[in-house]
This record gives sequence, C-alpha cells and structure tokens, in this order.
Amino acid sequence: MSSITRKPSRSIARNGGTKTACIRTFGCQMNVHDSDRIRRMVRDAGYTEVHRYEEADIVVLNTCYVRENAVDRVRGHLGELSRLKGEGYVEKVVLIGCIGATSEAQELEHTYGVDLVLGTHNTYELAQFVGLPGMEETYTPELPGSEGEHSAFVTIMTGCNYKCSYCVVPAVRGRMVCRPLENVLDEVKRLVDTGTRYVTLLGQTVDAWRESGSRFCDLLERVSEVAPRVWFTTSHPSNMEDRTLKLIGEKDTIVKRLHLPVQSGSDKMLKVMHRGYKSERYRRKIEVFREAVSDGTLSTDIIVGHPGETEGDHEQTLQLIEDCSFDSAYIFKFSPRCGTEAAELPGAVPDGVTQRRFLEILRAVERNAFSCNQSKIGATEDIYIRHARTGDGKAVGETWSGHPVHVPTDAEPGRYVTAPISGAGPHVLYAGEPLGKSH
Ligand code: 5AD
Ligand code: SF4
Repeated sequence: MSSITRKPSRSIARNGGTKTACIRTFGCQMNVHDSDRIRRMVRDAGYTEVHRYEEADIVVLNTCYVRENAVDRVRGHLGELSRLKGEGYVEKVVLIGCIGATSEAQELEHTYGVDLVLGTHNTYELAQFVGLPGMEETYTPELPGSEGEHSAFVTIMTGCNYKCSYCVVPAVRGRMVCRPLENVLDEVKRLVDTGTRYVTLLGQTVDAWRESGSRFCDLLERVSEVAPRVWFTTSHPSNMEDRTLKLIGEKDTIVKRLHLPVQSGSDKMLKVMHRGYKSERYRRKIEVFREAVSDGTLSTDIIVGHPGETEGDHEQTLQLIEDCSFDSAYIFKFSPRCGTEAAELPGAVPDGVTQRRFLEILRAVERNAFSCNQSKIGATEDIYIRHARTGDGKAVGETWSGHPVHVPTDAEPGRYVTAPISGAGPHVLYAGEPLGKSH
C-alpha cells in the first residue's frame, strides 16, 4: 500500500482530517519547557496533538545530550520513526534540542532521514517549518508554554558560564544569557492572572542570574511577591548566596526545597571537575539552609565513576551524604561526552566498580531519606495537588517543603488539601483522608 492511499484514511478517520503532531521530550526541565513552546507553535499552525507516532503527521523529538544513554534512546525512537515513515504513517520527523546542537546530529540526520534538525538556539525556526510566519528569536523566547494551567515554568536564564569537566551543556546551550527582571515579572504576572498557581523559575545555573546590580535573590523576592507558590532549579553552589537561603525560610510563597548539585564529596574530584568550590563550602551552605529553613527538603546530583575517582574519593562522597542528610539525590554514572575534557582524561573507572559505588550511594541516600520520611508520620500538611487521581488511585501532591505525597482526594491540580501523613517510603509520603474541603 502506498503512503498516498494510506495516510489520508488514517488522518480523516482518527482526526477529522486535521493535521497531527506528536512531541516527545527527553531530558531536563529546560527541555520540558522548550517542548511547551514547541507545542504552542504546532498548535498555532493548526496541528492537533496526538500521543502515538502512528497517528502523527509530524513528530518532534526534543532531545537531551547530557549522557550517552540519552542519545541511545533517541536512536531507538529515530529507528522506529524511519520505519513508520517507510510504511506511510509519519510524514516528517524533526529533531530539536541539545543533540541538534552537536555534530552527531548530522550523522543521525543521514542515518534516519530526519527532515529538520534544530539546536536549542534556533528552535524558533520550527515555526516556519510548520507553516507559521517566520519568527525572530529574542534571546529568551516570548512563548510561555503553560498559560492558564495551574503550574508553569519561567526561564530566567539560558546557557552556562561554567566548564565542568564532564558536561556538554556549555557547548550545546552556549554562554549564560539572563532575562531582564521586568520581563520575567511581566510573564509571571500574566501567568498568575490567567490561573497559574505554581511558578518554577528555570535555568542551568538559575542562581547565577544577574542584571545590572540585581542578583538572583532580588529576582526571587520580587517573584515571590507576585506568585502564590514559587520554586527554582537548578542552582550552583558557587552562586548560592546565604541571603537566598534565608529568603526561602522567610517568604511563605517560596517552596522550602533546595536542589543543589554537589557532584562529589571529594575536594580532589571537585577540582578535577572544575566545580569551583570545596566540600567544606558546600557543607556550610547546607548548614545555613538547615538553620534558615526548618523542615526544608534538600536534594542533589552526584556523579559516580568520573575518571580518576578512587575508593577514597568515593568514601568522601558517602561521608558528605551522611553529613548533609539529603532527602533525595539524582545519581548518575559518569558518561563520557564527546568534546568534554573528562572524555579525554585517564583513570577510567571500571564499569563494575562504578556500579557498586552507584548502589552504595543510592542506598546511603535512601536509608537517610527513609528515616527522615518516617519521622514525618503524624504531621498534618498543606498539600498542593499536582496531578489529579486517576481511577481509584490517589492524587499526587507536594508538601510546602516540596516533598511528594500520595493523597486520597478528588481535588483538582492547583488546589490544596490539608491531610495527615500516615505512611512513608524512601521516596514518597502517604497521606490519609483530607481534613475538610480543598482550597
Ligand atoms: N555523565 C554523568 N552525569 C552527568 N551529568 C552531566 N553530565 C554528565 C555526564 N557526562 C549530570 C550532573 C548534572 C546532571 C544534570 O547530570 O550531575 O548535575
Ligand atoms: Fe554543566 Fe557545570 Fe554548567 Fe551545570 S554548571 S550546566 S554541570 S557546565
């Protein structure tokens, strides 16, 4: 059967003849946010969003390059898409995002017959591709994604001025560009006016934001006066000011949760990684946070098996985990990325050793998180609902310290319920029946 006879029957039968697009997102919250913008473009161009490749005229893969397994996953999807194209299902495939900004993209383009490749800096060119008038990209796009929904991301800076040994972000996202304060505030106000109740400020090093005399803390304070609930990610320990940590404790509208990637507990490794701080400085920041924010939640990123990491370095990371008492951690096995310094470094750690260290770190974090979470049983919490319950399942919410909670309620996303914490695992809390109505 040719694609010409097959395609229209599929489109008309399932979508009343309208054009359809499927957007798949890989990677971090920046990408989730970029996908919101992509979604707007394809919607404005008259496409209906679908969730299965087979139903899509155009498929947009918004990709991540930060670790090799992210690329492997995208290869798998591209393979499937080129098969579907051959069978007359999918018409066009677009590859966007961090992989799009690398030389590997050309190889993927040829191997899988990708129709358009865009990096993170020229995402706006998708507009023309889907039939909208061409758009001039401002350094930060004026395309808030989730207007009118209960929670929204607001990008306040893009790029990164650090050069961590292992990281491709500076190569694919470029140097830091900060969005003007007034521009950020306007967007937040607009979002709040149209129903947003939770704003997450985004940036690769969000706390490095600055603008002629103003620093991140000033911006956060202004946003916290406008938004009913605000959080921010990702921070860098070298930029994190004590006054920001104190502000988190002082302002009722700021979620009491800090994500501060440490990467390693060994000063030697922190130096090799070019992180720009020692473990002692990191510990001091955490002390300030604990002091300023009672019941705050703390999470981090850790890389295991970076070249040169010895058993002694690993022990120091375990010690830091013990000292900082993280509520959760994203633990990554080192993945050599082309063009980064670490990819060329000697002292590779064997896979088996990395795996063992990974599990030791995971267990240490989970042990601590489990006992912290157990101690919350019996407390009554105001819970913000993030995802409505499905079927007879539970809704998923979070406490004021950003801790995930499963709660038996029909309350809609964006509402609060007050409920007692009745159980706890290493990752989530479980609430009992809410007291009173949602608000
Ligand atoms: N290998 C493993 N983990 C990495 N990260 C970034 N680059 C790599 C890499 N090459 C991790 C870091 C960072 C998080 C977003 O991803 O921990 O904080
Ligand atoms: Fe990558 Fe380091 Fe920049 Fe974070 S601070 S984005 S890890 S280079």
